[in-house]
Amino acid sequence: MRQFDIAVIPGDGIGKEVMPGALKVLDTLSEIDGGIKFQYKEFPWSCDYYLEHGKMLPDDGIDQLKSFEAIFLGAIGLPKVVPDHVALWGLLINIRRECEQVINLRPAKKLKGVASPLATEEDFNFIVVRENSEGEYSQVGGTIHKGEEQIAIQSAVFTKKATERVMRYAFELAKKRRNHVTSATKSNGIYHSMPFWNDTFEDITKEYPGIRTESNHIDALSAYFITKPQHFDVIVASNLFGDILTDIGAAVMGSIGIAPAANINLNGKYPSMFEPVHGSAPDIMGKGIANPIGQLWTAKMMLDNFGFNELGTFLLDTIEGVLESGIKTPDLGGKRSTNEVIEEVLLRLKRKG
Ligand code: NAI
Ligand code: MG
Repeated sequence: MRQFDIAVIPGDGIGKEVMPGALKVLDTLSEIDGGIKFQYKEFPWSCDYYLEHGKMLPDDGIDQLKSFEAIFLGAIGLPKVVPDHVALWGLLINIRRECEQVINLRPAKKLKGVASPLATEEDFNFIVVRENSEGEYSQVGGTIHKGEEQIAIQSAVFTKKATERVMRYAFELAKKRRNHVTSATKSNGIYHSMPFWNDTFEDITKEYPGIRTESNHIDALSAYFITKPQHFDVIVASNLFGDILTDIGAAVMGSIGIAPAANINLNGKYPSMFEPVHGSAPDIMGKGIANPIGQLWTAKMMLDNFGFNELGTFLLDTIEGVLESGIKTPDLGGKRSTNEVIEEVLLRLKRKG
């Protein structure tokens, strides 16, 4: 029996509405499997916390998180805390950086029972491996002069270490999938960093003779995500390119409410963080209709990360069964509430387990 200590941060808005059901699902999986157990500690860090304390989390907040095996997060940010980046940088980005979560993973898959906006009938199932620590999102640069004379310089930072790290991660992942890695580049336009990216990709390719590879410019690749998503398996991308590609991935799946994500720590010193792609959805909060699937699929990624892949697959298969039966929230064209979807997932897990 393995027990995992999980820091739970429901956060704001619908984060608070989808989290309780996800924990129930995890506990039910633990009952069924018998080999895994979860111990949760819930943290109230959120916009409400900010309004009361003037910060998103206490000064030793990150230290408190470091002893957990994983962080399971709902969503952060509400219009009552402005500007928006106070909440996001204060909590999310802070955790990603401090816990050295250097890889961001976002799978996209055509789920049974969910209509994709794409006309294609073909199934697709790919995952974007995004560099999460440097690249275009660096604080290197500055501005000088005022008015007409103003100049802004923003430097992208690409280290050999992080570039090799993200590429090796993608190749290792491809070995467990369909042995295919696509590199997102733009070496025809970006003069220094992208030729460096390509050279590094060629080097790492040599370490993995069993893996088929290709390199696509980001503009063409973005279009291919729409015209032939079934072509892709693992895509490795820089921070900015990965950010954009993963939003396309969520879009072609049919709703942002189902898309999961993981921020992975690789050195074992700090926990990884699992969070759905969606935000706090202030427009629907309090109505009880938030789609819980994004949070549930995120739980599946956490199970995979713990090495319980079979249990994770069991959960995703069950979710697909629920969607296929038409039990869906309004964002997917259904009429059911958050709780009704969760109840159906629980029922089917227990029946099959
Ligand atoms: P959002 O993802 O919260 O909502 C975008 C649209 O998708 C809305 O119409 C919403 O109703 C819908 N939607 C999102 N998740 C859904 C779900 N599970 N079920 C049904 N419908 C869903 O993005 P938005 O509106 O741009 O941001 C709202 C707040 O969330 C902002 O403060 C923003 O900064 C924050 N945010 C936080 C993120 C995080 O915690 N990782 C990610 C994105 C935004
Ligand atoms: Mg994004």
